[in-house]
Amino acid sequence: MLNLVVAMYKVSLLTGSRIYRRAARRSVALLTVAAAVGCASPGASRPTASSGGNGGSTPVVAAGGAGGAAGAGGVDGGPTDSSSHLWPCAPPADPTQPASTLAATGCMDPAALTRFVSASHGYEVNSPLWSDAADKDRAFVLPPGGKIHVVDCAAEPSACLDAADDGKWVFPAGTTFLKNFGFDGKVVETRLLVAQSNGTWVGYTYQWNEAQTGATLVDADGASVSFNTGSRTVDWTFPGRRDCTECHTRSAGWTLGPETDQMNRVPSAAALGSDNQIDKFAAAGLFDQAPAKPYATALVTPYTGQLGSPPASATVTDLARSYLHANCAFCHRPDGEFSSVDLRYKTDLAHAGLCNAVPAKGTQGVQNATNLTPGHPELSTLWLRMSTLGKGRMPPLASAVLDQDALDLVSDWIKGIQACP
Ligand code: HEC
Ligand code: HEC
Repeated sequence: MLNLVVAMYKVSLLTGSRIYRRAARRSVALLTVAAAVGCASPGASRPTASSGGNGGSTPVVAAGGAGGAAGAGGVDGGPTDSSSHLWPCAPPADPTQPASTLAATGCMDPAALTRFVSASHGYEVNSPLWSDAADKDRAFVLPPGGKIHVVDCAAEPSACLDAADDGKWVFPAGTTFLKNFGFDGKVVETRLLVAQSNGTWVGYTYQWNEAQTGATLVDADGASVSFNTGSRTVDWTFPGRRDCTECHTRSAGWTLGPETDQMNRVPSAAALGSDNQIDKFAAAGLFDQAPAKPYATALVTPYTGQLGSPPASATVTDLARSYLHANCAFCHRPDGEFSSVDLRYKTDLAHAGLCNAVPAKGTQGVQNATNLTPGHPELSTLWLRMSTLGKGRMPPLASAVLDQDALDLVSDWIKGIQACP
């Protein structure tokens, strides 16, 4: 039987992060939720605060038949785990003990297990992380009454490292983020990233069976499988739990996609509606204070893919810098894992630690290579590291397939740079 827990759940604005400390201080709301959750299936009790939630089913990955196939059987566990749900898709009471099946997290639609629960808010980013060509769907679930805070570096300078962090979205404790990964309409993996009451986030991940009837918790060390999509076999690696926070770091603000220039878009997935995402979330009352219009300029989508095509007006610099921002800047920022290279979009090239910069970590075996040698990708560790699966590969984890579109793009960008600024 499902453990009944009446808990005092502290919903304080997340982020012990030095960047967002101020934002947290401003908005700390000790929202006490004393919730008695009934013995119903997870997902049955709706938080009244989530009335705006309708973007839950995002069928780009879990297209068509998959949902139907999962519906009737209910093969996947059900609420047998010890995790308790104060609201649909609440973080597990003990973050070291996530539910052993995805269904038991309460994050998926009980009627179509590969889709996100209806209380979730589906969204897209403009510039995605490359995940070995997988299609992805994304959503978040806010705790009851929880609001998103958008950091305004001019108004609250101490909330930011510098102006390049403007427009970061900060989510309250109790938030759960969801991401599906799939191929050919089948889901191979569902990742969960949850905000704990102590201000840190943890991630864990679930492995889908090929029949799409259920997903089970991946071991903390990760796993590798061959996954039959129905038309081909894909080699797939599930990151370990510690890998999540190699990228989802405190200094980068834990969540990596949601910031105004990433979220400023009309989704390409029809299921997410035809409104601008920020307008939609503002109308649903999800912000403590909605971003002012006009919204920050949208990052361009770097190349044609699941999220559409780049605008015709985008320059190769816009495209390449957008890609590097989304895929690399959470580690390559002044307070990041490798700080002498700053790949944030708003950091100008002169201050990125790239142009004619002598590499701190070697030349990838190429004589006279610098981090970025104008006109010469083949003499630039930036490009060299992206173009190898071997030693020195960037990004250093969670990818085992070269991103050829990105390589071409970054190559064109470097070729077009005549001299360092
Ligand atoms: C190589 C770095 C990297 C690793 C490792 C990684 N992620 Fe992410 N993740 C990202 C980036 C970048 C984004 C945002 C871009 C996007 O959504 O495509 C993201 C997005 C997400 C999101 C949507 C919320 C957000 O932060 O934007 C979830 C959920 C998520 N990841 C979960 C996980 C979990 C769980 C793990 C570990 C099992 C993990 N990730 C490992 C880089 C990484
Ligand atoms: C998970 C964190 C992480 C991510 C993501 C990441 N890097 Fe790195 N990067 C590092 C670390 C750590 C090093 C130092 C590597 C070493 O010791 O050889 C490094 C080194 C580099 C260097 C060499 C700098 C020098 O001065 O020697 C370049 C260039 C680079 N990365 C580019 C990129 C690019 C481009 C991406 C995205 C496609 C990326 N990195 C993604 C962590 C990361």
